[in-house]
Amino acid sequence: MKRVGVLTGGGDAPGLNAAIKGVVLKGREYGYETIGIKKGWAGLLNKETGALRDDEVQDIQALGGTILGTSRTNPYKIEDGIRKIRENFEELMLDALIAMGGEDTLSVAYKLNRDENIPIVGVAKTIDNDLSCTDCTIGSYTAVDIATSAIDKLHTTACSHSRVMVVEVMGRHAGWMTLHAGLAGGAHFILIPEVPFDLHLLYERIKERHKRKNYTIIAVAEGAMPIGGGEVLQTEERDAFGHVRLGGIGKSLEKLIQKHTGIETRSVVLGHLQRGGTPAPSDRILGLRLGVKAMELVKEERFGQMATYYKGEIDSVNLKDAVSELKTIPEGLSKLIQIFEG
Ligand code: F6P
Repeated sequence: MKRVGVLTGGGDAPGLNAAIKGVVLKGREYGYETIGIKKGWAGLLNKETGALRDDEVQDIQALGGTILGTSRTNPYKIEDGIRKIRENFEELMLDALIAMGGEDTLSVAYKLNRDENIPIVGVAKTIDNDLSCTDCTIGSYTAVDIATSAIDKLHTTACSHSRVMVVEVMGRHAGWMTLHAGLAGGAHFILIPEVPFDLHLLYERIKERHKRKNYTIIAVAEGAMPIGGGEVLQTEERDAFGHVRLGGIGKSLEKLIQKHTGIETRSVVLGHLQRGGTPAPSDRILGLRLGVKAMELVKEERFGQMATYYKGEIDSVNLKDAVSELKTIPEGLSKLIQIFEG
């Protein structure tokens, strides 16, 4: 009987549990045993594991988060980390590993497969939807749903108070969530990292709008920045993958807009609310299907691949291609913003 390890790394994402269910139940069909590795790469470093029984995962598709836990541990940044990973993989008598994650987790998976010959398959998950070779990633549908319904709600309060309301949306250096939720929620201005914005033009456009309408909604990505300015950071500290913690652009716009337009302005940070709660049906289906695909890749011994939904199909791509660059919003798509702006 083959033993296949499965781990979830990086930020949690709604739909991960469905993916775990897909892995375990497809494994059952093959007669494989699935071993859950706790808290991402940390679990493999510390041998924190447990067998995943069929009945344990049967009803988890509607559960948010990840039953395995997660972390942003980077074994390449830990002394002896890679040796430990290799040894523990052997000691746990694993035949293969399925790593579910975004750019960070899957970069580690790619290197472990390439340099250490560990048989690994990836699964594309991140609410940010910024992995290359994906149409969408596990968690991204739910995150957009949550942000959209927040924007929907803000319309009525902004209108009642004749205010400008700024909504800060997660997504680091890619504006997918902000663009999609902003368009779906009818935000009047959408500010994404891919297109630096002109602050003075924004003030003018808001003032102009308030001659016709009494309120404005602005959706701003946490990584968006004004022309000539930089990202707004919560702290300069970096995580194990070198990321700074973004956040604060909403508050800073609130102050600037109020000062320069004279219109009462408020801001809301959606933050981790976007990752929490019940997964949308589309994330559950995507999770189940990518989990099954990952186990198929293991059976076919197609290691170094990532299970993905790409070009309208459940498919696989090289991990290398998935992690080599971020999937940001192309110019053609960002131009959509202008059509609906103001
Ligand atoms: O990568 C997903 C994400 O939710 C980003 O959108 C956000 O910037 C980051 O994680 C927040 O990380 P943490 O959960 O470590 O605060």
